[in-house]
Amino acid sequence: MRLFFALWPPPAAARILADWAGKAARDTGGKPVAAEKIHLTLAFLGDADPKEAIAAAKEIHGEAFDLPIEESEYWKRNRIVWVGPRQIPAPLERLVTALQLELFRAEFILERRPFAAHVTLLRKARMALALPDLPPVRWHASDFVLVQSHTSRTGPTYATVQGFPLAGNQTIR
Ligand code: 2AM
Repeated sequence: MRLFFALWPPPAAARILADWAGKAARDTGGKPVAAEKIHLTLAFLGDADPKEAIAAAKEIHGEAFDLPIEESEYWKRNRIVWVGPRQIPAPLERLVTALQLELFRAEFILERRPFAAHVTLLRKARMALALPDLPPVRWHASDFVLVQSHTSRTGPTYATVQGFPLAGNQTIR
């Protein structure tokens, strides 16, 4: 099955981001990502065995953190509009590094392209003169998830395989 690890936003944050994508689409065209499909990919595994991915993820002892959504950008190469932090939060960087290490140990073949903390909000978009201002978004990451993706004619659908907690004293999502 086609698998990836991701951070999934709290529902309120997903709603705000989906509304922003709808607004941005007036200028960029393209297809806004539905609220329930919005995520940040941590590691893309492609076709892989979920048992081994779960075992690797269980070795990770990450910390919970807030993901600031401060920046929006258009990538011409794949025609997406994405949002994300201006700088990768240190706990996110550590989480991705630890995941890559565990997946490497488990002999997963990962992408060579470096990790970029981006949340895709529009696909098949055009470059716009300006994107709307970003609203305040509260995205507290207290877990990460292994997700199965299915591609269909109408686009991808995602199903959570398993969640893995990130430790922390903040429990508000
Ligand atoms: P994207 O949003 O930039 O397209 C599920 O497909 C998630 O995995 C998406 O967030 C997608 O990133 C990412 N993804 C898809 N194919 C990938 C690949 N070959 N390498 C890395 N990430 C990929």
